[in-house]
Amino acid sequence: MATLNNRQILLGVTGGIAAYKSAELVRRLRDAGAVVRVVMTRAACEFITPLTMQALSGNPVHRELLDETAEAAMGHIELARWADLVLVAPASADFIARLAHGLADDLLATLCLATDAPVLVAPAMNQAMWRNPATRHNCGVLAQRGVDLLGPGSGSQACGDTGPGRMLEPAELLAAVASRFAPRNLDGIRVMITAGPTREALDPVRYISNHSSGKMGFAIAAAAAEAGAAVTLVSGPVHLDTPARVARIDVSSAMEMHEAVMSRAAQCDIFIACAAVADYRPEHCAGQKIKKSTERMEVRLVRNPDIVADVAALESRPFTVGFAAETTDVVAYARGKLAAKRLDLIVANDVARGDIGFNSEFNEVCLISATDTTELARGTKAQIARALVAAIGARFREGNPAAGEAS
Ligand code: C5P
Repeated sequence: MATLNNRQILLGVTGGIAAYKSAELVRRLRDAGAVVRVVMTRAACEFITPLTMQALSGNPVHRELLDETAEAAMGHIELARWADLVLVAPASADFIARLAHGLADDLLATLCLATDAPVLVAPAMNQAMWRNPATRHNCGVLAQRGVDLLGPGSGSQACGDTGPGRMLEPAELLAAVASRFAPRNLDGIRVMITAGPTREALDPVRYISNHSSGKMGFAIAAAAAEAGAAVTLVSGPVHLDTPARVARIDVSSAMEMHEAVMSRAAQCDIFIACAAVADYRPEHCAGQKIKKSTERMEVRLVRNPDIVADVAALESRPFTVGFAAETTDVVAYARGKLAAKRLDLIVANDVARGDIGFNSEFNEVCLISATDTTELARGTKAQIARALVAAIGARFREGNPAAGEAS
């Protein structure tokens, strides 16, 4: 991974059991050509020794803010200036809170405040701490400020719990760091993405919806922002944090999503329709909660507008990409939709499989154009999203060689 050659990476390690993975991360960063300096908080040193990190990074480990010898050699301001990128992995709930509040009470928090370099944070904590509204709020503040939150992953935790809060694996963190230095193929390009399900109201308390989690669309939004695009994310109801540098518009129903998209479609260069939009909505939404009385009840449904097809039908249309979630004959159905909706590209995925797709952290997709089909290998949604954004950006530029230059 030559993109990290001589890149100066400052790795911050805070107090969490995932700190043992940071040792492996240092190895991987160095193998990729990076120069690594490690800053550890006091709590981090309870989990892994500075000696280990010094041996692996080949540089002295920095620990104290007010240390005469350190300040003379590489103090907090020098470290902040030295870094091409700051990665905090693992980032504890406490550190995320301190960063969100702009505290400068130890070396790591201080240099995060002082640096102009991008700051990437890989949260690692117990699932209840991750779900806590205080942590959710702090992460939102950081994302708004342009701090990239990498993960966390979900699964079994050292404390015995299961859920979100596991630090991403070193290989995933390395890929995220490398992508920050990769050529940005969407610089100056405006991208709009739809994500998540829609809710079609039956009455004030009930609705028809689907199992879409929004994870794929949010991952694409994050990858597009990472690639330099100005991203607008039109999202149905989901439980996901807004990625850094992404403008999010929340909607509920397909009609609301249609309106949000159509009113902005003329101002975007690429439109990626990732949302699982309900095809039908109840013809009437009852004003009051429907009472049960009869044994049978009929609800008449009417067709929703097809958002991606409507965008593709615009006279001055953006480069338009759809998704096809299928359970059988995936590629054949996707090809049919590509033609019927007049799309430039369609991403096909098999939602019958339990190991990928809806609600899973993983996906495996095929990118189909009128002339060819490209299979993207199974990966996390973040990995697939980066590959998709790279491929979509390349196809878009083939047709618009000068795009983005004036912006
Ligand atoms: O026809 P189908 O729903 O399978 O097509 C899926 C693609 O069309 C996805 O890109 C989805 O976001 C988009 N779509 C849409 N508006 C609809 C239905 C689907 O934009 N009403």
